[in-house]
Amino acid sequence: MPSPARQAVSTSATLNAQNQQDQKVVIGMIGLGTVGSGVFKIFRDQPEIFFQKIAVKDASKTRNIDDLDLDVLSQDPYAVVRDPETQVVVELMGGAELARELVIEALNNGKHVVTANKELIAKHGPELFDLARQKNVRILFEGAVAGGIPIIMPLKLSLGANRIQEVAGILNGTTNYILTKMTQEGWSFDQALAEAQAKGFAEADPTNDVEGFDVCYKIAVLSLIAFKQVVDPLAIYREGITRITAEDIEHARELGYVIKLIGLAKMGEDGRLDIRVHPMLIPNDHPLSNVQNEFNAIFVKGDAVGDVMFYGRGAGEMPTASAVAADILAIATGLLKGNEPIPSMIIDLATPANLLPVADTQNKYYLRLNTKDKPKVMGHLGNACGDAGVSLEAVMQKGINPDGTAAIVLLTQAVSEKQMNQALETIRQQDSTRDIGCLLRVL
Ligand code: NDP
Ligand code: HSE
Repeated sequence: MPSPARQAVSTSATLNAQNQQDQKVVIGMIGLGTVGSGVFKIFRDQPEIFFQKIAVKDASKTRNIDDLDLDVLSQDPYAVVRDPETQVVVELMGGAELARELVIEALNNGKHVVTANKELIAKHGPELFDLARQKNVRILFEGAVAGGIPIIMPLKLSLGANRIQEVAGILNGTTNYILTKMTQEGWSFDQALAEAQAKGFAEADPTNDVEGFDVCYKIAVLSLIAFKQVVDPLAIYREGITRITAEDIEHARELGYVIKLIGLAKMGEDGRLDIRVHPMLIPNDHPLSNVQNEFNAIFVKGDAVGDVMFYGRGAGEMPTASAVAADILAIATGLLKGNEPIPSMIIDLATPANLLPVADTQNKYYLRLNTKDKPKVMGHLGNACGDAGVSLEAVMQKGINPDGTAAIVLLTQAVSEKQMNQALETIRQQDSTRDIGCLLRVL
């Protein structure tokens, strides 16, 4: 008696042949929210992409989708991955643990998988890749990084002849939208976040966006593809954008910079990976400074190609659906045309990354602090920096705060994070210092 998994595989082999003859591919989708709705709309008039079952949390919810047959909806995601006729499972639910269980069951049942879930790939990618390889099925995830921008397939295939040295970019649409609106329109953080949520850019829990977790997942996925190195996304040095104030944005502007949340992964000569996620001051003449709203951009540096930049909409219903739908089509074409190879984004032989501690990185720094308004304060600050070997590029007093303290901004030259921390510790202990407002790195 064959096991249920074996039975499902052989049944689906027979069905594959029948579907090939009927020119249709049977899809089961989990999630019909922002991205799922977009995918459904793209294939609305394409009978060869046939939605057999779509799992949602609440089947009674009103959905803004014309001609949706409510009979395809189910509240049981296991019904999708266990459906014997389904050939491709599209996971657009989000979250790591239930999604992992469902994807494992889908792969075990011989189904191809398409997902836009960066948390799932960042946390469980190697395990899922191994299983997909064993089961001889595909798992594609182009929508997981930077929404509609093609980056996974270009990085793996088109740049496959390069030794990748660096991947850096604006990888979160929500935070880029918030920072753009705060910079250009003077919106408050809360107003901009609410609008990003209304537009479908934000994660179910927007803490993932604004505190940088989403970018940690994405840069971990990119490191897996670019460097074949497995990085625990929770081990990545991370800062979000919630500490950034309108004053910081204004001071940065006066100095010739804009503030952006950056995901960075650089392979050192010594084999250590400098990987981090934090806001940075970007010079106005750098191409990343002009990436606005929900747009994303990714710089890749390869030993043969040099610098390449990818740019486009990094979040939202139709841009993300564009990437997911392309993965579905790649698999469907292979299934329908029997002899057409299905692309594989699986990474073989990935090894655990050796991370460079953030204290060992080199950066220029922007520091905003409040001090007592009295003589010699600038001298004390200069001494603290000089004693730690930190050279200053600019020092500005930005007037007197309502509480009578002086607002001061420093811009350093490139120094090690250890040196900067040493200077900061001395400044913190100086009698004239009231509080440290914000420390940011400069790209
Ligand atoms: P949404 O929150 O809009 O949609 C999630 C969908 O999953 C909803 O339809 C929800 O059902 C369904 N769902 C949730 N829990 C369950 C469950 N237990 N069983 C069955 N269905 C469930 O998320 P998004 O569409 O924004 O995101 C989906 C995925 O795509 C995530 O991994 C996200 O990180 C990723 N992504 C999102 C982008 C974006 O711009 N939004 C861009 C790139 C990737 P119901 O409708 O009933 O609530
Ligand atoms: N919440 C994510 C963002 C969705 O704002 O970029 C795209 O991954």
